[in-house]
This record gives sequence, C-alpha cells and structure tokens, in this order.
Amino acid sequence: MKYVIGIDLGTSSVKVLLVDQNGKVKHSVSKDYPLIQRQPGYSEQDPEEWVQKTILALKQLVEESNVHPDDIEGISYSGQMHGLILLDKHGNVIRNAILWNDTRTTPQCKKIDQQLGGKLLEITKNPALEGFTLPKLLWVKEHEPENLSKASVFLLPKDYLRFRMTGQLNMDYSDAAGTLILDILNKSWSTDILRTLEIPISICPPLVETEDYVGNLLPEVAEKTGLSPSTKVFAGGADNACGAIGAGILSEGKALCSIGTSGVFLSYENDKNRNFGGKVHFFNHGQKDAYYTMGVTLAAGYSLNWFKETFAANESFSHLLEEASLSPIGANGLIFTPYLVGERTPYADAKIRGTFTGIDGSHQKRDFVRAVIEGIVFSINESVEIFRNYGKTIDTVVSIGGGAKSDLWLQIQADVFNAKVVKLQNEQGPGMGAAMIAAAGLGWFSSLEECAEAFISTAEIYEPNPENVKRYKAFYQVYKDVYPQTVAINHQLFDLRAMK
Ligand code: XUL
Repeated sequence: MKYVIGIDLGTSSVKVLLVDQNGKVKHSVSKDYPLIQRQPGYSEQDPEEWVQKTILALKQLVEESNVHPDDIEGISYSGQMHGLILLDKHGNVIRNAILWNDTRTTPQCKKIDQQLGGKLLEITKNPALEGFTLPKLLWVKEHEPENLSKASVFLLPKDYLRFRMTGQLNMDYSDAAGTLILDILNKSWSTDILRTLEIPISICPPLVETEDYVGNLLPEVAEKTGLSPSTKVFAGGADNACGAIGAGILSEGKALCSIGTSGVFLSYENDKNRNFGGKVHFFNHGQKDAYYTMGVTLAAGYSLNWFKETFAANESFSHLLEEASLSPIGANGLIFTPYLVGERTPYADAKIRGTFTGIDGSHQKRDFVRAVIEGIVFSINESVEIFRNYGKTIDTVVSIGGGAKSDLWLQIQADVFNAKVVKLQNEQGPGMGAAMIAAAGLGWFSSLEECAEAFISTAEIYEPNPENVKRYKAFYQVYKDVYPQTVAINHQLFDLRAMK
C-alpha cells in the first residue's frame, strides 16, 4: 500500500495525517503550540515552533505507523491563512508571525481604503479587513520600518513551513488570495496595489497552483523525521480551501460549515464575476481556476475553548457538551455573542467584544455552555443569511471541525441553518484536503473530484426539526439585536482598557 501525508498547520496545533490510497487514515499525530498575545488585539506565533512541532509530529507518525518511508510518496499542506512571516536575505525569520486573528491594523485598513478606494474590491474582490496580510505589512512598515527594509520575501504560515522542509520559496493561489495583494481573476500580484502602497514587488514570492509539485524533502528534514528524501512535496493550500477539498466542496451548490479556532461558512463559486459587494470573502479555491466565498466568525471553537479554560479547566469537552444537552433550546433565555477577539462577518469590527445577555439567578453552567455553542452557530448563521440574501440556495451543509464531533452541535447547526447537515465518515478537517492534494498531485487520481469520490463518504445526515427551527428563529432575532445594542459600550470599554 502507498501513502500520502497531509499536514494541517492550524492556529492551536499542527496535525499530521497518514492516508492510504483508499482514503483511509492509517495514523495521525498532533502537537500544540501557544499564541503570543502581548496586548488586546495582538496575536502572534513563533514560526520556529511550527517547524519544530511539525518535525516531531512527523517523526512520531513514521515511527508509530510502522509504514516503510519509501511507501510514503507525497506530502502536502493546509495552513492557517493570512499570517505574515518576513524573511531576510538569508532566509531567517525577522520577527514573530502576525496572525489572522490579530486585529491591530484598523488604521492600516483605513489607509488602504483611502488610497485604493473601489480599485481594491475590483482587483482583490475583498475589502480591507484587519486579519488580511496587506494591512499587517503596512503595520510593520509604519511601526517597525527597520524590519520591512530587512525583508527579502514575505510568506504565509504553511509556505514558511514548506520552505523549511524543502528549501523552496512559493505561495499557492488559494492562500495568496487572502493577502489582499493578489489580482484574484488574473492570478498575479497586483502591481497597482503594491505601487500605490509603496511596497516592493520583490518581497512577493513566486506563485504556484495548489496541486503543483514544488520539490522534495531536504536531506536533513528526511533524516530528522525518518521520511524518505524522495518524498514529493506539493504546494498545498489555505486551510479553508483544504477543508473544502477534504469535504468534497468541489462543485456549485455545495456548502461547508467549519468550526475550528475560527468558524467559517463557505460556498463553492463557479461564477467568477459574481458580486457579493465584499460582504463575504471571495477567494481562489485549491481546485484550479475555481473560487469559493465565505463568511468568518473569528472566535468559534476559540470561544468554547476560552470558556472551558476559564471556567471548567478540569472538565473534558465531551462532558461539557453532555451538560449543554441538558439545557433547552435558547439556554433558558441566555444569549452569548462570540466576539472575544472582535468580529469579521458581518460586522468587521476589531473593537467589539463578547457578551452573555439575560443572565438569571437560576442559570447553571450547562446553560452557559449551551449559550456559547448556540452563539457560535448564530454568528455563522449571519453568513448563511448573507448568502441567501444574495440568492444562493443553502439546503445542505457539510460540517467539519470541532462542531462536527458532537450530535448536539450538529443538530443545532441543522436547526439554526434550517438546512440538512452532513457529517462525514472519518472526518479529519483540512488535513484530509492536504492529503488529497498530494494524492491527486501524484497522479493517483485524474482530478481532486475523482479523489473526493474515492476518499469521502457520508456518515449521517441531521435534518432540521421544524419545531426547533421556529424556536431558534426567535432567539436568533434577539441575538442579532445584541450587536447594535452593545457596540457603543464595547467600544468605550475597549478604549478605556487601552488607556490603562
Ligand atoms: C479565514 C481566516 C481563518 C483562518 C483560520 O479568512 O482568517 O479561517 O484561516 O486558520
């Protein structure tokens, strides 16, 4: 049997998956790393941690699986999007990576809007949002000019990891789309944007297709991991593109809900001229010349994780979810808004913060957990609403990530979205998409679609329950009122806190 490895470089951990030619996961290993949050709105990571943890994970994968290294024919990547890594001319990292959920760049977004106006949406199909890479580059230019002048190239997280494993500098289109520098339809760096903002084009890496074969493992990486130096490396893609590939979102009409650290509602798009007015992100897919659109909740799984770490550190997630199932729809009148690190869709507001509304003396922990889960799904439903308002039919949604691991959470998604929710057999998130990119790149299949046919199957379908749908509609209306009613006080609190 032959194998491929999918590496998913996430925000809280790296997960490596060993997958056989039938799409069966032979073994997987994951290793955590921390966020560096020096002040509110800041979110960074040390890229060296990504490299060291990935090497450890791969070594363990090879050792524990007992598969002969020569039988592992290909590797590819999925990575957290948008994070800025700057390298000097020797290939050394200049400063910590600034991540997708870092929202320090509101002034830089305003500057981009002022200088580029409508051109930005025309070229990139997206508005300037704090999480994207270009505002981060401008922040470094303004606050750390010495760092930008030392930079010979910028990369995104999985591109840096691939560089360290192969020595090759590349960026694929699905990830480059999230930089806000890519001309999305022409698939080239926008000289217009770079010239206007006075960023040298020389720091933009060569662009490749997600499925492109970009090189082999460096001998020292092969030695440290136990992999063969002849293992072929394929470029890989953005985690949301890879999540979509791994869930078979490869044709029009298919939609995905992914709840990882962030929460994403994503829809395949084959009409490249479709206009959502910048209300949802519009990116190149990992499938050649295809696109997808998506809305993003910044703190989805992160919210539940925060709740657990803060209030129930010694309990397991499955125990917390069991408790939540004992609370009724609407969590006994408790509503949570998941704006722990600001929000993207639909508000694009770096200063908004979360709330529990309606706390009552009778509420128990179970109500709080349920409110957190429901609040995350309500937030993602705001993206679903945007798609429906633009005329997209959303009747079936494939669910992946943490939100797909619990019956309760899957049923809540079906009832809130008022759509069928599909749970996949052996769901592995974006790492499976990365493995499929390697499998298709190696020529095991003639296309990603053919690979999806062989690798992906449905485990269960959760139907919306009409009675629950009605109840949730009422709570969702109240949820939507919380943002406008709390935005002013949250902004005041944010500013007061910043003043110290
Ligand atoms: C997408 C986004 C997040 C990250 C999470 O725009 O910022 O979903 O990709 O890894």
